[in-house]
Amino acid sequence: MANPFYRRDVISTRDMTREEMDLLFNATDRIRGMNMQERLSLCRGRVLCYLFFEPSTRTRLSFEAAMASIGGSSIGIASGKESSMEKGESLVDTIRVVDSYSDVIVLRHRMDGSARLAAEVASNPVINAGSGAEEHPTQAMLDLYTILKEKGRIDGLRIGIVGDLKYSRTVYSLLYALAMYRVDVHLVAPPLLRIRRESLYAMDSLSIREHDSIDEVVDTLDVIYVTRIQRERFPDAQEYEKVKHSYVIDDRVLARARSDAIVLHPLPRVDEVAYHVDSDARARYFKQASYGKDVRAALLALMINAIPPV
Ligand code: NCD
Repeated sequence: MANPFYRRDVISTRDMTREEMDLLFNATDRIRGMNMQERLSLCRGRVLCYLFFEPSTRTRLSFEAAMASIGGSSIGIASGKESSMEKGESLVDTIRVVDSYSDVIVLRHRMDGSARLAAEVASNPVINAGSGAEEHPTQAMLDLYTILKEKGRIDGLRIGIVGDLKYSRTVYSLLYALAMYRVDVHLVAPPLLRIRRESLYAMDSLSIREHDSIDEVVDTLDVIYVTRIQRERFPDAQEYEKVKHSYVIDDRVLARARSDAIVLHPLPRVDEVAYHVDSDARARYFKQASYGKDVRAALLALMINAIPPV
């Protein structure tokens, strides 16, 4: 298979196929097995530019660490306050300029549609690192890679996605990606935080059931994927007050979970996974975050090089 990622924008997991996902995971395995010299030769002299207009810890730093690990370097701004957009410059003008300084742009922005707009303007590829409540495709890539490594497969699993399904962009990218596999999905959310109905058309092929409480389904799940309430995206603070602290994964819940289940979370965690769960062998969210660096390194190497490292 030719390298389908070469110079391509990564905006939505809806734009991807299962074969492309497999290629990315194989490239990630290959990169993890390389010695430092081999790895550093993949993107030597290349530049990544990150533009993060919303807070981030893992996504930005793992992209930076990934780029450094394949020999490239990163420049960028880590908050809207640092850029000339504070002076009134448009996103389009900003993208046009940084496009000429770098080989790939990684953008996080509070508006849905921001990454598509950036991709239309930039001549170099754009990676969507979070566009409003819409999508966060590289998070889904590392989520699936984690499931593959920790469970040995994706097909055939029963996957529970718990929490703020209305505003969590990671959930949308994950569901669009899961639609390429044969899985049973259980969506667990308080009624006010259910999945946005208009997105369901893109998940047609998935077997989905919805639940109000994790207790209804926890004993059957292979994967328990938890999300934080996205407080900053609520248009009405009163609505947030109604749902805050409305669910928690703790030892009471895990007592009923399968012994071979895994607990994932895109992080940051607030109060939806109790801290004592960290010492449960089923908690894999920190491992998940650590896979993020290598999945992103593989993605960057594929996007920047015509010849894939596989
Ligand atoms: C997520 C995000 O920004 O959407 N964070 C991340 O990249 N791992 C999840 C969140 O903020 O809750």
